[in-house]
Amino acid sequence: MPQPTSRSLYAVLIAASMLLGCPTEEPVDEAPWTVEEALVGKMAFFDTNLSSPPGQSCASCHSPDSGYSEPHSQLPVSQGANPTMVGNRNSPSAAYATFSPTFHFDEAEGLYVGGQFWDGRADDLVAQAQGPFLAALEMGMADEAAVIAAVRSSDYGELFELVYGEGALDEVETAYVQLAEAIAAYEASDEVNRFTSKYDHYLAGEASLTPQEERGLELFESEDKGNCAACHPSEPDGATAPLFTDFTYDNLGVPKNPDNPFYDLPASLNPEGEDFVDLGLGGVLEDPAEDGKVKVPTLRNIGLTPPYMHNGVFASLREVVDFYNTRDVGTWDPPEADANVNDEELGDLGLTEAEVDDIVAFMMTLNDGWAR
Ligand code: HEC
Ligand code: HEC
Repeated sequence: MPQPTSRSLYAVLIAASMLLGCPTEEPVDEAPWTVEEALVGKMAFFDTNLSSPPGQSCASCHSPDSGYSEPHSQLPVSQGANPTMVGNRNSPSAAYATFSPTFHFDEAEGLYVGGQFWDGRADDLVAQAQGPFLAALEMGMADEAAVIAAVRSSDYGELFELVYGEGALDEVETAYVQLAEAIAAYEASDEVNRFTSKYDHYLAGEASLTPQEERGLELFESEDKGNCAACHPSEPDGATAPLFTDFTYDNLGVPKNPDNPFYDLPASLNPEGEDFVDLGLGGVLEDPAEDGKVKVPTLRNIGLTPPYMHNGVFASLREVVDFYNTRDVGTWDPPEADANVNDEELGDLGLTEAEVDDIVAFMMTLNDGWAR
């Protein structure tokens, strides 16, 4: 670790270590993150000059106040730095994403697990963070050199070279990967993965659930009721507090979202127009047996992140639970992707209206920042 060159920088580092806490004890990667690296990552994550036109940062679509997901609850998907550009998917949380294992096929379970994005197309956070800057529908920068030039002229350019070595910003290709590593380090920090929900305090014996939340938890876990924990585990996994996802892939038969503005993009950006179908994992692997499957999202901070599902089709948590409960017996539009729909674990749960409310109440205990 090079020595800090100026007292002001040193002060920044001290402040950073207080802010970010220690990096999580169990980083997904072998390489432990340093606090300095995470600070570079934090500053880049919030830097609105890394987009073209300037004005959009990672945090614009992954805001800490919205559980590191999209703050605009009226939009089913995210607008790019250029406001006529829209992506085709709802932004998931960048918090707790660090715990997703590197994308792989689990031979024992016969299932794909882990990775980043709804369709798992990035193996890990370092690969993921290299995407948005250059994506036309997101931050729209011309090339890696333009991103690194913006880092150089930022107020953390000096810190970047302190962390990665003098002259690091001269090597565009490696610097671009280092920038992604720094962002991944920030995403692995305690500041992002807070584990401070009411449910965390409940598990630690420091809070009690209301009778309704208690009933909701029971319904969430019981196999012949909600069965939610089958894919959104609510129990700690070894030393790690529950993440409410097993990072596997499934097609729930979620209907297409007619209000997705992606359908209206010009043919150069969306050649299929209104016929566009999100094939999820199947599209990435080009394997029809995986069509329609998307990664199980974490439910941490879920109360802060409407709308819901990969295409933002449901406006409220109640609508989500209603869908699980009555997909096969109610009046729902057909699935967006009709192959491989999971008919076994959801669709006709037989929950009463009051039980649906109980499950929603329980999910509201998963928001970070709970105060007595
Ligand atoms: C214009 C809005 C937008 C911007 C800007 C943006 N993201 Fe995202 N982010 C999304 C959307 C939408 C997805 C889901 C895309 C998909 O699955 O294809 C996503 C997915 C992710 C994921 C995957 C989470 C998971 O559980 O799979 C992470 C992590 C993430 N973004 C971090 C970042 C970082 C870091 C930046 C800045 C370099 C960034 N995002 C910039 C909208 C955005
Ligand atoms: C078979 C696995 C499975 C089961 C069982 C399951 N889920 Fe999900 N859950 C998923 C998947 C996969 C998605 C994403 C689906 C999509 O976007 O198309 C999801 C999405 C969600 C979302 C929206 C998350 C977001 O960020 O938009 C909520 C809320 C949710 N589930 C709650 C529940 C509840 C409550 C139950 C029990 C009643 C439950 N889930 C049962 C797999 C499952």
